[in-house]
Amino acid sequence: MTGSAMGIGLACAEAFAKAGYITVLADIKEPRSQIESLVAQGYKAVFYGCDVSNTRTVKEMIEWIAATYGHLDAALNNAGIQTPQRPMAEITDDEFDRTVAVDLKGVWNCMRYEILQMLRQGGGAIVNTSSQGGVTGFPGQAAYIACKHAVIGLTRTAAIDYAAKHIRINAVCPGVIRTPMAEELMSRNPQLEAELVRDIPAGRLGKPEEIANAVLWLCGPQASFVDGHALLVDGAFSI
Ligand code: NAI
Repeated sequence: MTGSAMGIGLACAEAFAKAGYITVLADIKEPRSQIESLVAQGYKAVFYGCDVSNTRTVKEMIEWIAATYGHLDAALNNAGIQTPQRPMAEITDDEFDRTVAVDLKGVWNCMRYEILQMLRQGGGAIVNTSSQGGVTGFPGQAAYIACKHAVIGLTRTAAIDYAAKHIRINAVCPGVIRTPMAEELMSRNPQLEAELVRDIPAGRLGKPEEIANAVLWLCGPQASFVDGHALLVDGAFSI
């Protein structure tokens, strides 16, 4: 599970560990106390330091997982960053390149090596974190939104490529979820949270655990014929 030191990724890692998976939390930051807490409760969780934009590190991580545990049943490619909030023409090339490196190439890197391992073992399930912004626009986030659209295209195409090999590949598209990333965005505009809540038919922001429930289902046997799908979990915000 990439991007699992906080927010959505951490909630997913906790949910998978509690569901009985041996869970590898992969991130550039280590959520040490959360992992210690899971282990103290008898769940199996470990940290792997990994920058998803670094192809070699991602390859080494998947090889380490295969060598250590023998298989990779499910993978969540979730690590993501936002671009500074500015209109498209004011985003610098460096900001664009860094966003693409993490939010798109990072997913690409992880999927490639996850798929190679799943081919060796005869199947598996992958979920990529896109966004509600993978199917709509969002002001001031052109690079980020472009990546989230691309993640859905990548998910759909890879799903077609590997469906016959028993590898299911889906995307989850969170709406506005209360995480450090969303808090940071809202801290720069004190009106934003109230405006968002007004526009979300459910009348509130989502919780990381609500995304974790969707990801757990997408990876599990009850979603055995769900493939290439982009699942919106957004309190009806996007419809
Ligand atoms: P967050 O900022 O709270 O957590 C992101 C995690 O990714 C952090 O632990 C961070 O250390 C890690 N990370 C960042 N760059 C990395 C890299 N290069 N390699 C490995 N790990 C890295 O973000 P949040 O809100 O939990 O978002 C998770 C995913 O959900 C992201 O892909 C985000 O775009 C997406 N999302 C979030 C929404 C929200 O409202 N919070 C809405 C829609 C999508």
